Amino acid sequence: MQRFTNPRDIFHGKGALEALKTFEGKKAVICVGGGSMKRFGFLDRAKAYLEEAGMEVKIFEGIEPDPSVETVMKGAAFMSEFEPDWIVAIGGGSPIDAAKAMWIKYEYPETTFEDMCKVFGLPKLRTKAHFCAVSSTSGTATEVTAFSIITDYNKGIKYPIADFEITPDVAIVDPELAETMPKKLVAHTGMDALTHAIEAYVSTARSEFTDADAIHAIEMIQRDLVDSYKEDMVARDNMHTAQCLAGIAFSSGLLGIVHSMAHKTGAVFADYGAHIIHGAANAMYLPKVIAFNAKDETAKKRYGVIADYMHLGGANDDEKVAALIEFVRGLNDQLNIPHCIKNYGADSYPTEQGFVPEEVFLERLPEIAANAILDACTGSNPRQPSQEEMEKLLKCCYYDTEVDF
Ligand SMILES: NC(=O)c1ccc[n+]([C@@H]2O[C@H](COP(=O)([O-])OP(=O)(O)OC[C@H]3O[C@@H](n4cnc5c(N)ncnc54)[C@H](O)[C@@H]3O)[C@@H](O)[C@H]2O)c1
Ligand SMILES: [Zn+2]
Repeated sequence: MQRFTNPRDIFHGKGALEALKTFEGKKAVICVGGGSMKRFGFLDRAKAYLEEAGMEVKIFEGIEPDPSVETVMKGAAFMSEFEPDWIVAIGGGSPIDAAKAMWIKYEYPETTFEDMCKVFGLPKLRTKAHFCAVSSTSGTATEVTAFSIITDYNKGIKYPIADFEITPDVAIVDPELAETMPKKLVAHTGMDALTHAIEAYVSTARSEFTDADAIHAIEMIQRDLVDSYKEDMVARDNMHTAQCLAGIAFSSGLLGIVHSMAHKTGAVFADYGAHIIHGAANAMYLPKVIAFNAKDETAKKRYGVIADYMHLGGANDDEKVAALIEFVRGLNDQLNIPHCIKNYGADSYPTEQGFVPEEVFLERLPEIAANAILDACTGSNPRQPSQEEMEKLLKCCYYDTEVDF
């Protein structure tokens, strides 16, 4: 038996934010990040709509990008004090993910972060509050997914919380919110979305239900991502839908080791002055993982189907896989994303000498590889890497060398 779980409602299209006016409840907390939602007026609008619905509204603000365990605990304490029956998270993946984890802690105050990280091990939520997610970036699709990514900065590791319990009750996918994204964010979140769709399509947990969403998302992203990056707002609006479809695909169809590696490399070099941004990490690792997974016959065929849907050409599956890899690398060039960690600058742009020194990478490699194998996304990857293979793969992602194993 498999399960395909989505929010009860997805309000989409321009003006969808106004759906907040129809919510029923007494108290709502709005969880928001560092300022973009306030600056562009979306926070005020959300607050006004909820007040129009007759609710008392409080705002928990300042949730940082790649949110920490500490922020989750602070937000949960804020909720315990205010006792909302609606949690409305508005912004990118970071504030929405943080709010999901706060929700767990608010419902079950005795829960520890370690408890939350037990995959599909959460108790029943919705005893105190319902959850609405309003996404302002076009990538994570956390507004429809069963996941939340929280960073433990003591360990330098991102932990996924995974359980259908944290699939939001309501998702609001209003493209107006995505129109204010700066280009770099469009690039990174767009490549995150493409990775979600491709990983979900070859995942061992895939189904006909998730395939349909994944393939259509891939076709839309191929058509619209570069134009969205060039500030074409019709394409930008389409990308907001496409990333949500990709989210529907991977929330039930799960992901693979591109994400395992991105989770375990994202914050581990923070002491050298930067993060490897989630979407950029995916963009760099995806071509390497396609080459690695394509050694599995079933995965190779499925990459071939993707290439066919994209009209990339190729006379056989090997040629189709090569065409797909070239397509992804070409996207990275057009979006100003490097091909490997060695060339990843502290500002995320390609540079001769990136911020991660070679000797530091090599020293930390065995531990990163071991952590990546243990990541919750590894189980559904079509090929299970050994420690040695994972180290080799990560080296290819550092040096941009060919995957021939
Ligand atoms: N839950 C999931 O399923 C899932 C999937 C993939 C990634 N993630 C996680 O999500 C996080 C990344 O989320 P993200 O990529 O959405 O970015 P983000 O939420 O970290 O936001 C990045 C920056 O963009 C700004 N911003 C957001 N929306 C904007 C807009 N419309 N206009 C202008 N500025 C805007 C924010 O203020 C912030 O400074 C990471 O922690 C990643 O690990 C979660
Ligand atoms: Zn992702």
